Amino acid sequence: MSELKPRKDLLDIESLELDEIEYVLGNAVPFKQLFQRSVKKVPTLRGKTVLNLFYEPSTRTSSSFEVAANRMSADVTNFSVSSSSITKGESLLDTIETLQAMQSDYIVIRHQAAGVPNIVAKHTGASVINAGDGYHAHPTQALLDTMTFREVHPDYAGKRIAIIGDVLHSRVARSTSTLFHKQGIEVGVLGPGALIPEGRPDFMRRFQSWEDVFDWKPHAIYLLRVQMERQEGQFFPSIAEYHKMYGMNSERLVSMRKLGAYLMHPGPVNRGVEVTDEAMGYEKSLISTQVENGIAVRMAVLHWLKPETQKE
Ligand code: NCD
Repeated sequence: MSELKPRKDLLDIESLELDEIEYVLGNAVPFKQLFQRSVKKVPTLRGKTVLNLFYEPSTRTSSSFEVAANRMSADVTNFSVSSSSITKGESLLDTIETLQAMQSDYIVIRHQAAGVPNIVAKHTGASVINAGDGYHAHPTQALLDTMTFREVHPDYAGKRIAIIGDVLHSRVARSTSTLFHKQGIEVGVLGPGALIPEGRPDFMRRFQSWEDVFDWKPHAIYLLRVQMERQEGQFFPSIAEYHKMYGMNSERLVSMRKLGAYLMHPGPVNRGVEVTDEAMGYEKSLISTQVENGIAVRMAVLHWLKPETQKE
């Protein structure tokens, strides 16, 4: 394989080259194989430090990064908002200066405002990994989703994925659909009118009903979490109504099973809203695989990025 250009940060999907995507996804495979061994660690990042900086609540993503960094033998510090001076009004740039003084090699950041990881990246020599910023991007989620889809469909080009729900507020929908499109996977969306962005990319085909979705014969159905915390207005009448219109229920499960389509969800799942308990037990659900692949992909990302702190 030809040499990749060194990259310091992972901030979005748009700026990734295809060979970089292949490099990360290719390396995630042996990292995942490691999980079957009794010793799940490699010494790659021994002596390096990873700072997990989460301004938004997160269990799944922050612990996934923590496990990934531990398995690379890095030292990990978790900096969560409530226990830090961020809540005491410290400005972002002051925080960055403090972080600089800690000489972290990698900063994993989640923030409610789009673009914050880019600002942090400009002001530090550490590698910055965007773990989700506002509506904008969630690149490691897109990479793990692609890894998961490609495992079940190695001949993925030309396959179809339907994304259901709150596309407007979803950084997952934005990053994952962009990466799927880059891989030649077709993307369709279904959701309440007000939650499907007007200015969506041309490659996103819009469906009006589940019937349309099933007629399209998707290879996977990707349910999004309803983003209650990001909805200032009323985008649909009620949760019960949302479930009725867009949730994965018994009837839709029958159609999915007939198609042999896989079920995906980024978590955390709102049971009874996007998905019923019955659908959670669907034999072609990839939700746990997404979690497992998340660790492998994040190890591969840590392995790939080159902090400026590492100029030996
Ligand atoms: C996603 C996020 O935070 O953007 N979750 C995650 O990363 N595990 C999706 C979501 O919260 O809906």
